[in-house]
Amino acid sequence: MDKLIISGGVQLNGEVRISGAKNAALPILAATLLADEPVTIRNLPHLNDITTMLELLRRMGVELVIDEKLSVELDASTIKELCAPYELVKTMRASILVLGPMVAHFGEAEVSLPGGCAIGSRPVNFHIQGLQAMGADVQVEGGYIRAKVNGRLKGARVFFDVVTVTGTENILMAATLAEGQTVIENAAREPEVVDLAECLIAMGADISGHGTDTIVINGVEKLHGCSYSVQPDRIESGTYLTAVAATGGKVKLKNTRADIMEAVLQKLTEAGADIKTGDDWIELDMHGKRPKAVNLTTAPHPAFPTDMQAQFSAMNAIADGVGIIKETIFENRFMHMQEMLRMGADIDIDGNTAVIKGMDTLQGAPVMATDLRASASLVIAALVAQGDTTIDRIYHIDRGYECIEEKLQLLGARIKRVPG
Ligand code: EPZ
Repeated sequence: MDKLIISGGVQLNGEVRISGAKNAALPILAATLLADEPVTIRNLPHLNDITTMLELLRRMGVELVIDEKLSVELDASTIKELCAPYELVKTMRASILVLGPMVAHFGEAEVSLPGGCAIGSRPVNFHIQGLQAMGADVQVEGGYIRAKVNGRLKGARVFFDVVTVTGTENILMAATLAEGQTVIENAAREPEVVDLAECLIAMGADISGHGTDTIVINGVEKLHGCSYSVQPDRIESGTYLTAVAATGGKVKLKNTRADIMEAVLQKLTEAGADIKTGDDWIELDMHGKRPKAVNLTTAPHPAFPTDMQAQFSAMNAIADGVGIIKETIFENRFMHMQEMLRMGADIDIDGNTAVIKGMDTLQGAPVMATDLRASASLVIAALVAQGDTTIDRIYHIDRGYECIEEKLQLLGARIKRVPG
């Protein structure tokens, strides 16, 4: 297993080009199953999760033509297997996103039930209930979700008890080909849901209200081909901004969007960053200062994203003052903090609340990544620590950060990958 070795204590300065958003690209790739014609998706990030989704679609019989810039043309008219097998779903929970499109377009689907996960129990009951409300017969047997419908799904009112991102995406995709109108209430407002809706509209879907908590979909008989470019990754953007802020440096992000990450930019400003934004760029300057500790509570968009919580914990660990972090989305998303304690952080955890007292510095240590965003936070902790940190199990980071060591090296970081 590859490891990252980081020699900390360097102030980061420079420019970073942001990649396409993983969590928008995954549902958009699944959505191509709904079309009767080839669909081209552009600005896909080079990431293991994207490769897994492409492999899943390929095994189902979807014809893929990939060019050197990772634009992919997908043709679902050649589909043969309506199954997402355990061996792929266990490596990537987002495989569940093929469920809604398959039932809606082909009348049946078999998707392995995702198992437990490093950040919480993560059930998929709302995905199943939503499809049942639309007339699908859904059984869970032998570790698989088996869904069937005679003819087309029927439009329905689907109310989510808890805001769910991929649950909203699955029902949104299914509803595009259903008979009649579907109204999703308490829908996720995440920018990735909006990007998916825009792609579906480009394929001919009739959708309104995306970006609010009520999405209305009038089903159509067919969806056609289109060419669509995935939005920039707001979590990758936030991760680089936080890393640079933690080191007191200055950075310009290119190919990004400030309008989809207001909560994060506001917290960085509170931490003392001077932030300027344009149409497709964000500039952050700490003027060499140490960040101030910030309090935050994770919640669905537009509030502070759970996918940025770990990175802010790392910044708080060396900030001036005490920061209180409350995680309300996943029940087990503080694993990175146990590793930071080994680097000398001062953190008190009580249930879903962590009180982090900023230290003048952390010390390098061998640490282990437990999930994608936890790995990103350990990279930030390592960048501000004195001495060397070795981060093990970095396959987690390769699921969500394109060329992370090259991008950080361009900012001046001393980071290298060693094969394990
Ligand atoms: C998406 O996961 C993201 N993944 C996650 O990104 C992100 O952390 C999460 O949304 C929250 O923003 C993708 O988009 C591929 P949820 P998702 O359903 O959709 C409960 C990353 O690092 N729930 O919004 O699986 C659930 O347990 C990650 O890139 C149910 O109880 O999350 C959680 O407490 C990891 N039943 C809450 O809802 C359900 O049927 C929100 O989860 C569904 C969800």
